[in-house]
Amino acid sequence: MALTEEDLKQLPEEGIDPENSGKYQTLIEDLQGNILKGHGRDYSVHLFLQWKPEHINEAKQWLKTFTQTYVKSAKKQSDEAVRYRQEGLSGGVFGNVFLSRKGYEVLGFEPFQIPFDQPFRMGMKSNDIRSSLADPEVKDWEKGYQNDLHALILVADDDIIDLLQMVNQISQELRLVAEIVHREDGFILRNKAGQIIEHFGFVDGVSQPLFIKRDIVKAQTNDGNFSQWDSRAGLDIILVKDPNGQTEDSYGSYLVYRKLEQNVKGFREDQRNLAQRLNIKDDLAGALVVGRFYDGTPVTKSDIPTYAVTPTNNFNYDEDIAATKCPFHAHIRKTNPRGDTGRVESSPGFDESLTIEKNHRIARRAISYGENDPTKEPETGSGLLFLCFQADIENQFNFIQTRWANADRFVKVGVGLDPLIGQGQSAIDPEWPTKWGESETQEYHFKLWVTMKGGEYFFAPSISSLTNL
Ligand code: HEM
Repeated sequence: MALTEEDLKQLPEEGIDPENSGKYQTLIEDLQGNILKGHGRDYSVHLFLQWKPEHINEAKQWLKTFTQTYVKSAKKQSDEAVRYRQEGLSGGVFGNVFLSRKGYEVLGFEPFQIPFDQPFRMGMKSNDIRSSLADPEVKDWEKGYQNDLHALILVADDDIIDLLQMVNQISQELRLVAEIVHREDGFILRNKAGQIIEHFGFVDGVSQPLFIKRDIVKAQTNDGNFSQWDSRAGLDIILVKDPNGQTEDSYGSYLVYRKLEQNVKGFREDQRNLAQRLNIKDDLAGALVVGRFYDGTPVTKSDIPTYAVTPTNNFNYDEDIAATKCPFHAHIRKTNPRGDTGRVESSPGFDESLTIEKNHRIARRAISYGENDPTKEPETGSGLLFLCFQADIENQFNFIQTRWANADRFVKVGVGLDPLIGQGQSAIDPEWPTKWGESETQEYHFKLWVTMKGGEYFFAPSISSLTNL
């Protein structure tokens, strides 16, 4: 029997156990990996393709072979992770296939066979989307992204030499059927402690919605049993039925892809200026911008870094409702308010219950690009290849970017934009606490050091739809 809406919404207490998945078995065998849990490889190459209309049948054949060879299901990804833990055997190259609305059209799909999400159908270049996200004009995007992008092929591995050889081989095979109009090479950046960081130097990838039993049990055991923040999520926030799936439980997910350039030198100077203005230490100033210290310690919990090996994600803002410890505009408070938006009295229409607020969550799968020496401070050419999965682009990525990050009014009036990713016009300079936990504030305009260089909305089709093209 096919899964019901309730099965998707309400996972078992401990999430999905891929080794004993019960009614979710077909789903995880037909769902591409990297969606419910990141693939975890250190290097990845992203190839953006345009199909050659005169070779569509060959393109379909290529997609089928590529999927059979490299695309791992959620189930296989998990089996390989078990083998890796038990026997140290690496899963090798990992592949994903993502298609844009144009990609589906050129492959000959009828409108009713194309995934329905509205922004996905419009495309990231459409004027309506661009103006609502306050993105730069397409003519100012990096050249490769100005093309129509039909497909994104992701290949990842821990061994960079193997990966690059594989990419060469794939590029050769693709010659007949597609043009590679753009390519990105991503890698995981780490700090001295071995933690994953982004280019500004902050530990990244900490807070994620959790779906899989192993992740849930680990978080419960090591991080306070979800007493302050329950990271579990139903599959309905990340999966939708694939209209072309060949099983009754064939699902896919929408992928938002954005290249976000980071000016590290500019950011650090601004961080030092903010610290001077508030008369606080540089690292606390950085934490007020991000909401966590470099090491991942949430600033709502502490005014100094705690150097935990695994930063906590079991916290909320209940003891900081006046935002004297973590400003409302701090990046993580704006992108996951953990109940703040349900507290609102002053913003009719903006208040939501925690249950509704949690439906805006996204599964982030970003990776860095550019300079790989974390001691350097690049101004251009480095940043984040931002990827996130969701079931409803308008209500998830777009909502977070437009209604929270880009909005001056968030939880209350006059909060200001997210200083990391907020785009567009702001009428105010945000207020920052001069003494952690006390009400005194100073205004400071932190500039935007992240620039959107291009992107697209994609769909991750089920495996059976790709092998039956
Ligand atoms: C969390 C950096 C872009 C959404 C974080 C964290 C860092 C960070 C350091 C804290 C660690 C963690 O919880 O994983 C950045 C940088 C970006 C960027 C440097 C751009 C270059 C974005 C974008 C979005 C986003 C575009 C979505 C619109 C989130 C969310 C969290 C987060 C949802 C988790 C918040 C929480 O649950 O506490 N980001 N981010 N980020 N970011 Fe970003």
